[in-house]
Formats: sequence, C-alpha cells, structure tokens
Amino acid sequence: MAEQFKNFIDGQWQDSESKQTMERRNPANTDEIVSIIPRSNKNDVDKAVNAARAAFPKWKNIPAPHRADILYKAARILEEKKEELAEFMCREMGKILQECLGDVQEGVDIGYYMAGEGRRLHGQTVPSELKSKHIWTVREPLGVFALITPWNFPIAIPSWKIFPALVCGNSVVFKPSNFVAGSATKLVEIFEKARLPKGVLNLVHGSGGEAGDFLINHGGIDGCSFTGSTAIGKMVGKICGEKLIKHSLEMGGKNAIIVMDDANLDLAVDGALWGGFGTSGQRCTAASRVIVHEKVYDKFKDKFVKAVKQIRLGDGLKNGTHVGPVVNDDQRNSIKKYLDLAKNDKLMILCGGNIASGSGLDKGYFIEPTVIDNPPRDHKIANEEIFGPVVALLKAKDFDDAICLANNTAYGLSSAIFTESIRNAHKAAEALETGLVYVNAATIGAEVQTPFGGIKGTGNGHREAGGMGGALDTYTEIKVINVDFSGSVQKAQGIKWD
Ligand code: UN1
Repeated sequence: MAEQFKNFIDGQWQDSESKQTMERRNPANTDEIVSIIPRSNKNDVDKAVNAARAAFPKWKNIPAPHRADILYKAARILEEKKEELAEFMCREMGKILQECLGDVQEGVDIGYYMAGEGRRLHGQTVPSELKSKHIWTVREPLGVFALITPWNFPIAIPSWKIFPALVCGNSVVFKPSNFVAGSATKLVEIFEKARLPKGVLNLVHGSGGEAGDFLINHGGIDGCSFTGSTAIGKMVGKICGEKLIKHSLEMGGKNAIIVMDDANLDLAVDGALWGGFGTSGQRCTAASRVIVHEKVYDKFKDKFVKAVKQIRLGDGLKNGTHVGPVVNDDQRNSIKKYLDLAKNDKLMILCGGNIASGSGLDKGYFIEPTVIDNPPRDHKIANEEIFGPVVALLKAKDFDDAICLANNTAYGLSSAIFTESIRNAHKAAEALETGLVYVNAATIGAEVQTPFGGIKGTGNGHREAGGMGGALDTYTEIKVINVDFSGSVQKAQGIKWD
C-alpha cells in the first residue's frame, strides 16, 4: 500500500503549493507504489527557509546539553523503530533487510554520539604572549543549514547531518532524495515526537533539479552539506562558493582493495565480495577495483569468481538474499552502458555482465553481479564510478605498482589492503591517498565515531561524523575570545606605540 507523505515546515505537515506529487515504486517490484510525495516548488522552499531562520535564534540560545536532551530522545525513538523503518526502507530503495537494519543502526549510533557532544562541544584555552590576558575559543552555530542527501543510506546519511547540525545549534532545511522520501519523512516524524521546537528542522520534498536547486540558491541559507554525485556536488560547490557560505561536499569514489601475494586469500575474497557487492555496489565506499599481485592473481580470480557466482540476487526482504536491485531505471541504464562498453571493447567478463531476468527478477531493477578481468588501466571501467555490482580485477606487478594503481584515480575516499605482512600494512596505510584506509577489511563500513570523507574528487576537505576533526568542524564556526585584564592597551607582536 502506497503511503502519502508531506513536507514539514514550521512544525506543520503540509502539501506543496504546487499540488503536484511524485511517486516512488519498489525497485524490487515496480508494480508496487511505496511512497507518494509532494513536488515542492520555490514557495515551499521559501517557507521552509524562513521558518528555519525564525527558529534559529531561540534554538541557538538553548544550552547545548539541553538541545542534546531532545536528540537523545530522538535517537531512542529511532532505536525503538529500527525494524519497522528498516522494512520500509527495504521496500523503498531495495538494499537487503540486514543492511537496512544496519543503516538505521548507524543513525541511532550517530544520534547518541552527537547528543553526547552536547556536553562536550569543547573549545580551547590558548596561552597569550601578553600578561594578564586570557584567550579561549568557543564553537558557534552558523544559522540555517541546507542538508541534501542521497538515496543509498536513507536514514544513516541524513542522521550524520541532522544530529550534528542540531546539537551545534543550527536550524535545518532538509531535502532528501526523492527516491527515499518516505524514509526521510519517518526520520523527521521522530524529531517531532522528540518535541524538537517547531521550525528547527524543516523538510521539503521534490526533485533535486527543482526543490534542491531552489534551496541551494536561496539567499537565506548559511551553510550546506551535500552527499551525492561529483557532478551535482561541483554545482553545489560553485553556488555556495559564490555566496561565500560554508559547504561540505561528500561525493564519489573508485575505491580499491589491494590483495598482496602474502594475503590470506579466503579473507581477501570475503572482503572483496562484501566491498564490491554489498548494497549492490551502490556505496561511495564500494570496492569497484580489486588490485591483485600477479603471483596470486589467477588463484584469487578463481576463488573470487566462484564466490560471486554464489551470490543470491533478489528481493531484499526475502531471507537469504545477498544482493538486492539497483535503485531505479536510470541507475540500471547507466550501469548497463558500462556493461555494453565492456562487451564492445572485448573485455573479458568473468561472470555476470547483464541485466538479470527470470525467477521473480523481471519486475525489478536487477543487475547480475559482474567481474571483469584485468581491463586496460586507462579503461573507463577501471576509472569511472559505476555505482553498481561491477568489480574490475586488476593485475599488479608488485607492492609499489599496486599502490600506484590504487592512487591513480580522480577520487580519494576509501582503500584497503589484504596482507599478512605488518610492513606492507603500515607502508600501505602511509602511501594510500584516501580519507579512509582499511587493513584486512573491506573498503566499506566506517564507524560513526570516526571522521568520514575523502580527498581529491571525493570531497572538498570536510568530514562527516566523528567529533572534532569531523562533523563538529563543519557545523560550527570558531570564535576566539580575547580578554585583557591588565588595565592597559597591550600590543601583541611587540609593537611600541608611545
Ligand atoms: C556512502 O556510501 O555514501 O562506510 C556512505 C560505509 C558506510 C557509509 C557509506 N558507513 O560504507
């Protein structure tokens, strides 16, 4: 049964002024309409930003530990609703139920973690070069934050942004992907239940090209946090840069797992399976390249392909499914283009390579888990983010060649190495040019208490989650307070002015 959702503006659930709606179907069974959402226009966005502006001063003045009380409550309700939300999420975006449960859990984790920050939000005390002078720093909110989120982590990513934005004292206008608008609405309902004051968190639905665009271009926002494609992120960056407002961009990846000749190959196979095919490869952290030392290439390849052929594709709600559908028709077509390219260029496809059909798969957007054998290093398959269940195996001559290959990408989010050598592990940790490095683990599955983000084409220097050095830096400005109690106008830098 389709559920009908509304915008949430100034504490009121409301339709769009446009009166238009958009629908979302289950990607595992497109006969099923899951959500109907408002297609918001400029006026809706305007109202939401104005509500957030009006609510900001009061929210900011609530002491952080008390803002946190509300966030603890929201995290508790989210925890209580974990199963219900995960099941809905699975129907709305397709990843398997276990992963949907993990997605909600990630939201709960960041909720509690960030609520804890309400009793920290530390500044620094800084020594002065002058006598009788105190210097310290405080963290202050920016104002209204626009939060724009993708469809692959419908609760986790919005939670990464909403909880820290709020604990720091900002108000929010939240525009989720229209493919997961129902999950987003259920998250906002939780903040309402936790009695967040009206106007502090506003929700506008709609398409990125309309509602998202109006929001980013709105003169009333003071900061923006965006997770999504590099192409859109660059546009967001341009607009926010022009307005000189703070913006955190979290974008694509072409993450690599290195498998050394001294690796435990069974472990490496498991890691590459989970990293490459978990969430149908639709994570910015997905391991879409597996770089294997030439000495063990054939052995690894055999084991890996055998394991990939065992992957059970299907409806994520069904017990025993490993990989669900991809999110929508556009995504399926975009992945198919890469598969066609591989065929046209006569690359060796070791398994998969097609849109999946038969046994209940025809009504969904299913792609066969695909492995491609050692494509040329400059081939698109080895360089572009495919965001689907497609893994390229690449052969490396030795450790240095593997590192060089791993780093030879426009992105820099996550990387991993499988090795039993402590020396190789540490050398790789130092040499890999990514925001996240894993040893003997997949490229996916970051924990919320660590700063999350990447370098190069992945981001613009900000980090999600984590504490200091992470999200708190995004959602606050630092103010330096200087108090001179010497009774004279002392001058720093030794200046005399008599
Ligand atoms: C993303 O794909 O945008 O580290 C986020 C991970 C998850 C988050 C992924 N915790 O794979």
